Amino acid sequence: MKVTMVGTGYVGLVTGTCLSSFGFEVICVDNNKAKIEGLEKGIIPIYEPGLDTLVDSNLKQGRLSFTTDLIGAVKQSEVVFLAVGTPSKQNSEEADLTFLFNAAEEVAKAINHYTVIVIKSTVPVGTCRRIKDFIKKTNPQADFDVTSNPEFLREGSAIEDFMRPDRVVVGAESERSRQVMDGLYKPLSLLETPVVFTTLETSELSKYASNAFLATKICFINQLADLSEKCGANVQHISKIMGLDHRIGKECLHVGPGYGGSCFPKDTMALSFFAKKFGTSVSIVDAVITANKDRKLQMAKKVISACGGSVKNKKIAILGVTFKPETDDIRDAPSLVIIPELQRAGASIHANDPASHEAEKVFSNVTWRPCPYEACAGADAVVIMIEWNQFRSLDFAKLKQIMKTPIMIDLKNIYSVHEVESAGFFYESIGRGKV
Ligand code: UGA
Repeated sequence: MKVTMVGTGYVGLVTGTCLSSFGFEVICVDNNKAKIEGLEKGIIPIYEPGLDTLVDSNLKQGRLSFTTDLIGAVKQSEVVFLAVGTPSKQNSEEADLTFLFNAAEEVAKAINHYTVIVIKSTVPVGTCRRIKDFIKKTNPQADFDVTSNPEFLREGSAIEDFMRPDRVVVGAESERSRQVMDGLYKPLSLLETPVVFTTLETSELSKYASNAFLATKICFINQLADLSEKCGANVQHISKIMGLDHRIGKECLHVGPGYGGSCFPKDTMALSFFAKKFGTSVSIVDAVITANKDRKLQMAKKVISACGGSVKNKKIAILGVTFKPETDDIRDAPSLVIIPELQRAGASIHANDPASHEAEKVFSNVTWRPCPYEACAGADAVVIMIEWNQFRSLDFAKLKQIMKTPIMIDLKNIYSVHEVESAGFFYESIGRGKV
């Protein structure tokens, strides 16, 4: 089966590459010429562990190719994925579908045989049906079906998530398109991966429902952490106890400075927005959005309080600025709120992150250091913001020697209270009350 992937952003590139390693011939299309030229040489524009090797091997085996020629690619494919960005509109919670409709228009004009159009981009309910009507209008002769196939990939572990998914969701209307999609995901049948076939609308909503629910779990446990701090309980034990209940599950119960990234913040806002448009409310999700925004500010206050109530003229070392480990992505990262808050309060920030190149473009007023110890040299306090592996076994004796004051604020609870305190640090972490 020949597949075209329109859009070589995060989702398109990972999905296209993984499908080619399933044995399909995949043509990845993008209108960014420089990006395509780079990809043809194996230059990967995003940071995703393992992706470079996979692209390289599939390129060499001739199953994966890159082009700017959308029409040529569509004409020879049975399946065409649309995996273009659907960012939030500027100053709005609504998803911007401009890229998607532009791509659909081009694809519509190129269809010359039965083609299954797969909407991979995260889109508000009703969009697949709108795309179907739009393609019909643009090219009344076109023989096609539109299916919805949301992605559930996490940055940093996207390849594993694609190769070993918990489930695949397909919204399809005709038996013919269902069979094509079934064939596409046949390689996962050995793993007995559930492939759930449903309607277009259910498939679209299932993506938002999943992300919003996971975001709710994170906010819930973060609020429980605040309560634990006040009443002397240990939130890490609470997470473990809750997670052992199969009805709850252990994922997304790790406390932290609030969720970030390109998905949870955008998708919770979009869900809230289109629920209102349908005349209903998802007030739980609205509360989550507010709680997560507040959390980031609250974390800045926590740092200031651990520093004795003021960070004026103090040097604060920040370890981890991306929105999570194993990515260079800083979209909606907690650091985007916490660092400016500390700076406003008079702190000078020295930071280290194993993938700081994107962050360095945003924070020109931060002193970037190549390793955690250099960031901590002479610091009044160190804040662990993101749980990169590199920060998990710091040499406390060395840190104590090089820091001005041994204060550690661990927003990801990567250390035990005992080990840090016994090393002579004042240690503040999340939800491990000391009553
Ligand atoms: C998320 C979903 O997990 C994927 O299933 C989905 O496909 C993707 O969005 C998407 O819509 O494209 P991602 O944003 O890459 O994936 O990252 P996650 O690992 O889910 O983390 C999101 C945020 O939640 C991060 O800021 C992370 O630090 C935070 N988080 C996650 C917690 O604070 N606690 C946790 O227990 C888990």
